Amino acid sequence: MKKGLFISIEGPDGSGKSTQIAALKEYFEQKGMDVVLTREPGGTAISEKIREIILDKNNQEMDDMTEALLYAAARAQHVAQIIKPALMAGRTVICDRFIDSSIAYQGYGRQLGDCVRIINEYAVRGCMPDITFLLKMDPKIGKSRIRDEEQDRLELEKLEFHQRVYEGYVEMEKAFNRIVGIDAARSIQEISADIIAQIEAVLQEDGRNRNDL
Ligand code: TMP
Repeated sequence: MKKGLFISIEGPDGSGKSTQIAALKEYFEQKGMDVVLTREPGGTAISEKIREIILDKNNQEMDDMTEALLYAAARAQHVAQIIKPALMAGRTVICDRFIDSSIAYQGYGRQLGDCVRIINEYAVRGCMPDITFLLKMDPKIGKSRIRDEEQDRLELEKLEFHQRVYEGYVEMEKAFNRIVGIDAARSIQEISADIIAQIEAVLQEDGRNRNDL
């Protein structure tokens, strides 16, 4: 049985995930909790190699299903090698993107539909986040925050793609209690105070002092 808290952070490109993840890590560390910070696609040597293939701007010919399967493959390795062992050891895992990114980007963005969820159920084998923060920001604003030359293969997709991704996220937020929408069009401090308040509530509800784990 997993003992640690598993948190994932989601949102459109340019929604400020990295800044919020750093603030959350600091919050847990100040509480003396053992935190593992990781990301997708990536987090292991094998998954980082898959990341390079997926995001390479030169791989324009990549088939959408290949893309979905590569994200799922990177995730399967990440869960098996990093996330599951850390949770079993009672550590807190903060993951920059997880399964919801695939459902939003490949399911809605690429319009592959529900097969993306099914593929990923095999990849994660029941290892799902306890709470997911969705940083909500107009994808147009998010995209404009990343310089053209810094955009990877996915970020370079046209605005309509990113709008479908965002619609997917909003639908998932409505469907799953696990996903907490956060208004990301505010100051960095306001956003992180909001996230931390939600985490405090989860820790209290949990009925366990996770410092003891
Ligand atoms: P990052 O820029 O947040 O590191 O993510 C890399 C890109 O990959 C980003 O554009 C979102 C995209 N992505 C997917 O399309 N599907 C996935 O499952 C994941 C994890 C990311």
